[in-house]
Formats: sequence, structure tokens, C-alpha cells
Amino acid sequence: MSNASAPQSEQELLNARLEQANQQLLQSEKLAAIGQLAAGVAHEINNPVGYVYSNLQTLDNYLNDLFRLTEAVDNARCIEDLRQIKQNIDYDFLKDDLRDLLAESREGIERVKTIIAAMKDFSHIEEEEFKPADLHRGIETTLNVVNNELKYKAEVVREFGDLPEVECIISQINQVIMNLLVNAAHAIETFGRITIRTRQKGSTVVVEVQDTGRGISPEHRHRIFEPFFTTKPVGKGTGLGLSLSFNIIEKHQGTLDVESAPGEGTCFRITLPIVHPDTDNE
Ligand SMILES: Nc1ncnc2c1ncn2[C@@H]1O[C@H](COP(=O)(O)OP(=O)(O)O)[C@@H](O)[C@H]1O
Ligand SMILES: [Mg+2]
Repeated sequence: MSNASAPQSEQELLNARLEQANQQLLQSEKLAAIGQLAAGVAHEINNPVGYVYSNLQTLDNYLNDLFRLTEAVDNARCIEDLRQIKQNIDYDFLKDDLRDLLAESREGIERVKTIIAAMKDFSHIEEEEFKPADLHRGIETTLNVVNNELKYKAEVVREFGDLPEVECIISQINQVIMNLLVNAAHAIETFGRITIRTRQKGSTVVVEVQDTGRGISPEHRHRIFEPFFTTKPVGKGTGLGLSLSFNIIEKHQGTLDVESAPGEGTCFRITLPIVHPDTDNE
């Protein structure tokens, strides 16, 4: 190797290759996740944009009616003419409906803004720095981004405690939470509940993602963190989500644990140090 000043052992070379392959996997899983998100987000944005668009058409009609009324002011022979036009355009209904249309459109645009803000928050892939971050905000961002995958499968319950800011790479933590949420949704047959629980525990914080899905059988239990281990059909699962999540949490010097009762559900627990132990000497 040209850049090695000292001769490297076979082992070191292999380790370096493994690390590189791991980074590539992380990157490709990120890209796959973003592709999946983009599809979901397009779907989420489509609905509000659809009704805002149709509201604009109705508003256009209403405006024409209102202009007819105001322009008639110049030509009307008597106030009775104006009253007639006002009645013809169903002014009272128009007035109420106009307010409703505007309120509904504003809501739709707010929804689109929220989704876009979440996407922006979520897509800071380039950010690789440990920085104090608000985990609740990260969870909300992630929920917004995966809403499309969750809403038909589960009611999402938040049991949030008081959390300090946590020194972490928030885009990566968001990715872990996204993996856990999507897995939870996949594990639910028809409709269930996903509970996200947070609390501080001494110098760490705990984030739990619990579902009421099918659970994990004991023979799979010790394999789920293996790269490429999946019980899902081809195209649905890559088997990389949990192994990458595990790596990310390990890099944060935290732990990722699981408890599961087949037929009842599963709970994944992330524990993270509030202050990243390596930050001082980085
Ligand atoms: N919440 C869960 N409930 C039941 N099984 C789960 C859950 N999360 C993960 N698993 C199991 O772990 C396997 C590996 O998960 P993961 O690494 O995310 O890969 P993938 O989701 O692509 O299959 C899944 O195929 C599934 O069998
Ligand atoms: Mg997965």
C-alpha cells in the first residue's frame, strides 16, 4: 500500500477493508432509506397539495363573483341592483366558505412545511459530528418522515420524560429510530400500537420503541443484529437495519437491547450516554 509508512499486517489490512465495507453498507442503507422516504413523503405531500390546488380553483370562482359585485357598484342604477347581484352570488355562503377554504389551505401548507422541515432535519447525512441535540425533536422529525408507513398500521403513543440534550450525531440516531419504527410497523399484522418512551437514567438517556406486533421467536432472537439476517420477503427486507443500528449505537458508546414475547410484542431499548465519552479528546 502506497500510503503506509510502516508495513501493515494482513490483519490490519483486513480490518481496514472491513471498516470500509461497513461504511459503504451504512451509506447504501442510508440511500435506500432515503429512497423509501422520498416515496412516502411524495405520498404525504400529494394529499394536501391536491386539496390546496382545488381550493385555489374555488377561490378563483369566488373572486370572480366578488369582482362582479364590486364592479357593479359603478354601473348600478340603484341599490336594489346591487342587492340582487349579492343575492345571486350567494354572498353569505361565499363568505363562510371562503374562510373555511383559506383555513383548510393554510393547514395543508403547514403540513407540507412540516414534512419539508422534517426532511431537511433528517437528511443531514454529511453531518458526522457529535453535538448536543434534542432527542424529542429528532423523534418528532422521524415520525413525520415515516408517518406514511405507520399510520395504517399503528396508533403511535408518546410517553416522553424530561430529557437533557444528548451529545450525539442526531442524523444517525434518527436513522436508528426510523429503523426501529419501520420494523415495529412491519411486525404488526393488522393494526396495533407503537409506544415511544423516553427517560433519563443517571448519566444516560433511554429511548424505547415498543410494539404490539408478532414478537421475535427465541431461535431468531440472537440473530436479528446479524447483517443480512431478515425474515421478510425479498424486496421488503435487507436485513441491514438492525445491524447498522447496532453499529451506530455502539459508536455512540451506548447499548441497543431487545425484549420480546412472541405473539405479544417487542421492545427495543436504546441507552445513550448524555455526554459522549470521547468528545473531549476529539
Ligand atoms: N419489532 C420487531 N418485531 C418482530 N421482529 C422484528 C422486529 N424488529 C426486527 N425484527 C426481526 O429482525 C429481523 C432483522 O431486522 P432488520 O435488521 O431491520 O432487517 P429487515 O427489517 O430488513 O428484515 C427482521 O427481519 C425481523 O425478523
Ligand atoms: Mg428493518
